[in-house]
Amino acid sequence: MSQLTSGQVVDITAAHTYGTWRFQKGWKPLHVVDAEGCCFFDSSGNRYLDFSAQLMCVSLGHKNPAVIRAIEEQARMLPYIAPGYATDVRAELSRLLLEVLPRGLDRFFFATSGTEANEAAFKIARMVTGKTKIISRYRSYHGSTMGSIAATGDPRRWAMEPAGKVPGVIFAPEVHCYRCPLRHEYPGCGVACAEYVAHMIEHEGDVAAVIVEPVVGTNGVLIPPREYLPRLREICDAHGVLLIADEVMSGWGRTGRWFAVDHWDVHPDILVTAKGITSAYAPLGLCATTGKIAAYFDDHFFSHGHTYEAHPLTLAPAIAAIGEYRRLNLVDRACETGAYLAERLQELKSKHPSIGDVRGLGLFHAVELVRNRQTRQPFNTMRDKVAGTPLLVDAVAGEMLTKGVSVQAWLSHFVIAPPLIISREEIDQGVRALDESLHLADRQAQG
Ligand SMILES: Cc1ncc(COP(=O)(O)O)c(C=O)c1O
Repeated sequence: MSQLTSGQVVDITAAHTYGTWRFQKGWKPLHVVDAEGCCFFDSSGNRYLDFSAQLMCVSLGHKNPAVIRAIEEQARMLPYIAPGYATDVRAELSRLLLEVLPRGLDRFFFATSGTEANEAAFKIARMVTGKTKIISRYRSYHGSTMGSIAATGDPRRWAMEPAGKVPGVIFAPEVHCYRCPLRHEYPGCGVACAEYVAHMIEHEGDVAAVIVEPVVGTNGVLIPPREYLPRLREICDAHGVLLIADEVMSGWGRTGRWFAVDHWDVHPDILVTAKGITSAYAPLGLCATTGKIAAYFDDHFFSHGHTYEAHPLTLAPAIAAIGEYRRLNLVDRACETGAYLAERLQELKSKHPSIGDVRGLGLFHAVELVRNRQTRQPFNTMRDKVAGTPLLVDAVAGEMLTKGVSVQAWLSHFVIAPPLIISREEIDQGVRALDESLHLADRQAQG
C-alpha cells in the first residue's frame, strides 16, 4: 500500500496526470478510497451516493462479488493470450451475447473501450460497403479517438476541427422534441428529423452508415418518438446504408430493456457497446455485427485488430455481469425503479421554476434547467463549456456533493443514471439533494 498522505495523492494526481475534458488549472480531484453498492467514500470517510453510476457505467453497483471473483479467477487461470487463440471466456461470452443482444447480431469484435468499438464499427462499415461517409447527429457523443470524435456532434469535437478531423463524417439534425432543431412539433412534424436523413443520403451519395445513440446519453437523455428508429431503419434499408446503434451508455438494462433499440424492435446492422457490459470493472468494448456483414470478410481481409482484442481479463467479468443482471432481474427492476425515479423528478419539476424538462426511460433520466420556462432559454451554452466559463449545473452538482450525492452534469442538464440496484430510499436521498440544491438555479430563473 502507498505511504502517501491524502494531500500528496491529490497533489501528485493533479500535477502529473491529465484531468480529462477540462482546464487543468484549479483541478483538485477528490481522493476516493473505497466504494460499495451505490456509494463511494473519500479519504476523510465521507460517503457519496453515486447517482450517475460514475460515468453511467457502474450498472451493477460497486464491488459486486461475482464480478470481482470472475476477474480474480481469470487472473489466476489465464490473464492474457493473443487474440488469435480460442479461449473459454471468449466462447462463453459469445454464447451469452447471442442470448441478450438484438436478434441478428452474431459476430463479435472485442475492444477495450466504447470509442475503440466505434472505430471498429466505422472501419467495418467502410470496408463492407466500399463507401466512405458516416452520418451522425449533432447532439451525440461517440468517443474521443479520431474517428469517434469526428462523429461526435457535441463541442468536444471542436478542438479537432478542421485540420484534425477525420474526413467523411456529416451531421444530421438530432431528434429532440423539447428543442427541435427544425422548430417542428411532434406529432405534426411526421418525424421530419428522420426524413431529412433520407434527403441527406440521397444528396450526399457515398454514405456507408448512419450512427445513432438510440437514446442519446450525455447530450440530454433524448428519447425518440416511437416512429423515429423504425423509420430510420427503413430509410437505411432503402438506400443500402448500414445502421449503427451506439449503445455504449444505453445498453445493459439502463433503459429497462437489455438494449434501448429493443423498445422499438429495431435491428441494427452493427451494435456498439461498452460501460455496463462489465459494470465498468474491466475495460471492455463490443462491436457486434450481423452475420451478413461477417460473411463479407470470409473472402476479404478483416483489416482491424488490437493486442488487447478479446483480452481474457475483460471477457471474464462480462460473463459474470450478464449472470448478475439476470440473477438480480435488473432489466425489469430498472423499469420499476425507473418509474419511481420519474415520479419523484416530476414532483421536483412542479416545485422548481428552473426545471424546464424532465425526461427519461428506465433508470436513465435528464433534468434540464432553463432560465425561462416559456422561452426555454438555457443558463449556459456549449461555448461556455469549452471557454471554461463556470456552468450553473456544475454549481448545483457541487452543492449536491456537499450533501453526499454525486451526479453528472452536462451543459444545462443532469444525467441521473444510478446503479440498477438502487433502492427507493437511495432515490429519495438523491432527489432530496437535488431539491435542496436547486435554489441556486431558481433564484436566477425568470417566470
Ligand atoms: C454513447 C457513447 N458512445 C461512446 C462512448 C465512448 O466510450 P469510452 O469512453 O469507453 O471510449 C461514450 C462514453 O461516454 C458514450 O456515452
